[in-house]
Amino acid sequence: MSFPKDEEKVLFRDLERILYTDEQIQKRVSELGQQISADYADKDLVLISILKGGIIFLADLTRAITIPHAFDLMGASSYKNRASSTGKVIITKDTELNLEGKDVLLVEDILDTGHTLSVIIELLKIQDPASVEICCLLNKQRARKVDLPLKYTGFEIPDEFVVGYGLDFNEKYRNISGLGILKPEIYRD
Ligand code: IMP
Ligand code: MG
Repeated sequence: MSFPKDEEKVLFRDLERILYTDEQIQKRVSELGQQISADYADKDLVLISILKGGIIFLADLTRAITIPHAFDLMGASSYKNRASSTGKVIITKDTELNLEGKDVLLVEDILDTGHTLSVIIELLKIQDPASVEICCLLNKQRARKVDLPLKYTGFEIPDEFVVGYGLDFNEKYRNISGLGILKPEIYRD
């Protein structure tokens, strides 16, 4: 299995193995879009994605959803140049839309310890939305430290460091179309 579009990219050589190809991701995103469109048919849906990792997933998911909806962005950072969580979350950008009475669906690239989303959910609730649910593309269930109910999950993955499809290590690898596991020698110093 390989990423047809990525083979020529130098970045591709830093991957230990491929988890999901672009095609597999697109298929799953389209299924999620159909499910969300059915579940939120009579709701006032607002997707909120977390910068920067979530934006590639958001860009594909918003187009896979067939009902009218809005989207917005928040900025949060919990990883500082390392491949492990510090537990500290820094909010770098707040939402711009008024979320009062809206049905908010958080669109996250990956759920690891859960610290980032638990802080974001508490902040969003101050705006009094009708509901707040989570849609994450990748779930590292084994790494979870905070209990969070997931309404939609793209893929369950092992507790390894994943890059591509928006996910980075030191701001690199976001532009790989698929998802792969980074070679440990890249992030171990
Ligand atoms: P959490 O707060 O531990 O759940 O971390 C969530 C955030 O950490 C994600 O939004 C990512 O930005 C980052 N993260 C967690 N695991 C990975 C990974 O395997 N690769 C790249 N980024 C990750
Ligand atoms: Mg992120």
